[in-house]
Amino acid sequence: MQTEVIKVTPENLATAAEQAGALLRDGEVVGIPTETVYGLAANAFDETAVSKIFKAKGRPQDNPLIVHIAKFEELEALVTEVPEAAKQLAEAFWPGPLTMILPKSDKIPDAVCAGLQTVAIRCPSHPVAHAVIEKAGVPLAAPSANLSGSPSPTNAKYVYDDMNGKIPLILDGGQSAVGVESTVVTLALDRPRVLRPGGVTVEQLRAVLHEVDVDEAVVKPLKKGAVAASPGMKYKHYAPKAEITILKGSFEQFKAYVEAKNAEEHFVLCFEGEEKDFPHAVTYGRCGDGLSEANRLFDALRELDEQGAKTVFARCPSENEVGLAVYNRLLRAAAFRVVEL
Ligand code: TXA
Ligand code: MG
Repeated sequence: MQTEVIKVTPENLATAAEQAGALLRDGEVVGIPTETVYGLAANAFDETAVSKIFKAKGRPQDNPLIVHIAKFEELEALVTEVPEAAKQLAEAFWPGPLTMILPKSDKIPDAVCAGLQTVAIRCPSHPVAHAVIEKAGVPLAAPSANLSGSPSPTNAKYVYDDMNGKIPLILDGGQSAVGVESTVVTLALDRPRVLRPGGVTVEQLRAVLHEVDVDEAVVKPLKKGAVAASPGMKYKHYAPKAEITILKGSFEQFKAYVEAKNAEEHFVLCFEGEEKDFPHAVTYGRCGDGLSEANRLFDALRELDEQGAKTVFARCPSENEVGLAVYNRLLRAAAFRVVEL
């Protein structure tokens, strides 16, 4: 299959979105930009179309997808009930990088939710994503547009690298603004619980709902035999080919540790301004600035592979606000290898 890439501008937005919409109505899969990362979209009501997503990504069948809608009003048909908390969160954070999990209605096929009784719903803010959902005229099931296990793509080139020949169309809407995937919060338990941290922070959620738990799996490996609240959290994830180890401590401690290891042989993943101290370095944002770290992390992981890195020592992000999302992704990329300095 030939994969077409269309660069979307304000001038061609309507026609490009219509071209994508027509393919989606026809049961095809299309790569689309969102403000978090790029998505691999299909008609959420069409089980055959949804199965093509799993095939293109090589995604395990038991990992459910997020359903994307253009307006809050579309939520009602997809869930059994819209609780007050969902209204408050939507009011505060939609359209935007927040996904809510709710008990699903019969309209959602089992393939989307991997057999669970709940469905994850998000209303993205990216103008291209919004236009494509409207033109398709149906909700779109869309995971991140990477091959399963690889870092999520934040631009059309990385989608093309992973999906060339597998899907008919990618819309290029520029670099994703957030850079890590949406915050996933479940409203299907007794209390709201964050299953995956993202662009909307736990602090922001607590300002609206007051009581919000954070799932243990966010910063800890799943215990053997435990059932993941969010199936995506149990898989090796976001991983480049290189072996990453996170070093927790000050920059001075980090530098001393790497130098003792023979810096020539290793790559470092460090913050801006620190790279001059190492022969092989890739940076991911500014130290202590979670937003800039989120923005750069997945690209930095792909750049390490492009540069042929085999072993990488990574600086540890802060664990508050958006930094928690960065830490959560980097931990998985490092298969939870952390050294306390
Ligand atoms: O920002 C995002 O959320 C991007 C863009 C494209 O919207 N999408 C994304 O999708 O990251 P994906 O499939 O890569 O990650 C979805 C996560 C997975 O960890 C999955 O297990 C979890 O959400 N998930 C989906 N439905 C769920 C459900 N019903 N219950 C629990 N977890 C669910
Ligand atoms: Mg993903």
